[in-house]
Amino acid sequence: MNRIFSGVQPSGNLHLGNYLGAIRNWVRLQGDYQCIFCMVDMHAITVWQDPAELRQKTREVAAGMLAAGVDPVKNILFNQSQVSAHAELAWVFNCVARIGWLNRMTQFKEKAGKNRENASVGLYAYPNLMAADILAYKATHVPVGEDQKQHLELARDIAQKFNNDYGVDFFPQPEPMIFGAATRVMSLRDGTKKMSKSDESEYSRINMTDDADAIALKFRKAKTDPEPLPESVEGLEGRPEAANLVGIYAALSDKGKADVLAEFGGRTFSEFKQALTDLAVSVMGPINQEMKRLLADPAHVDAILREGGRRADEIAAPIMQEIKEIVGFLRP
Ligand code: TYM
Repeated sequence: MNRIFSGVQPSGNLHLGNYLGAIRNWVRLQGDYQCIFCMVDMHAITVWQDPAELRQKTREVAAGMLAAGVDPVKNILFNQSQVSAHAELAWVFNCVARIGWLNRMTQFKEKAGKNRENASVGLYAYPNLMAADILAYKATHVPVGEDQKQHLELARDIAQKFNNDYGVDFFPQPEPMIFGAATRVMSLRDGTKKMSKSDESEYSRINMTDDADAIALKFRKAKTDPEPLPESVEGLEGRPEAANLVGIYAALSDKGKADVLAEFGGRTFSEFKQALTDLAVSVMGPINQEMKRLLADPAHVDAILREGGRRADEIAAPIMQEIKEIVGFLRP
């Protein structure tokens, strides 16, 4: 059976990139697959997290998914640290993956920055944990934004090397699912940089917790160029900020970029930004309201995650047992 696994780090606010690149797609896939969606708190601590804030962010991210329409009964929604298979399999994969493979990971280079010696070992081994997340459930499909493509290729390499090393046909090759008009949403301050939780500038991203005023202000301040919008998609070339805003509009309205430009080509950015604000508020506003409602009752969110953790463990524990047999660990 086809099984989906995907995750989000509860290390900051969910933003429009997470929504358009990942969470909205998850909502559209549920029903056709068995879906397991995870708040990856163990990934989050690869960089320092204040414990109380991490707890709160984990609830917030869960509330964001629920508010966006993820059904926790049809699917499994939980936080990673509840299920021990993630850490156990990550260790096995630390011994399968090669240092050379991890050295090629561009996200580590970006996140570690210049001071690589001072990055945590966890940040370096992060892609092995991510492979474990997926393969602990033998997931076959992984819906993500474009920035996770390289990590998924590594997960496929690890699955294959494990199968080869141990002479088994155990792990599937998980398929990335990267789709929609906004697989890579860019910063509102710099159209060449990805919209990210870790950007220092709040004006770089629309958070799922932003109200209508904040959304309006951020789009108003968003960087643009002096030209009016082009009439065709080719005209967006070399204009990263324009391309980004048009892409966001297209994704939010479920249209193609060409359709958006057929409507707005030749118009000024100030007109377009107003329309974009209205659209974003109409899509994000109800989600934002529902998130607030859910967060007013944290015990309810916690109970959903606990039940999700129990169900996730039911799937992962027997798979982990088989892995231990394959590797040659004696049963206790
Ligand atoms: P994270 O928390 O950075 O992002 C969560 C999801 O949002 C997508 N995304 C974006 N999509 C479009 N434009 C953007 N600017 C943008 N920023 C983020 C990401 O591609 C992702 O789908 N390593 C992962 C979490 C993870 C995971 C996993 C994912 C851990 N284990 C197993 C899939 C399967 C991460 O840091 O995502």
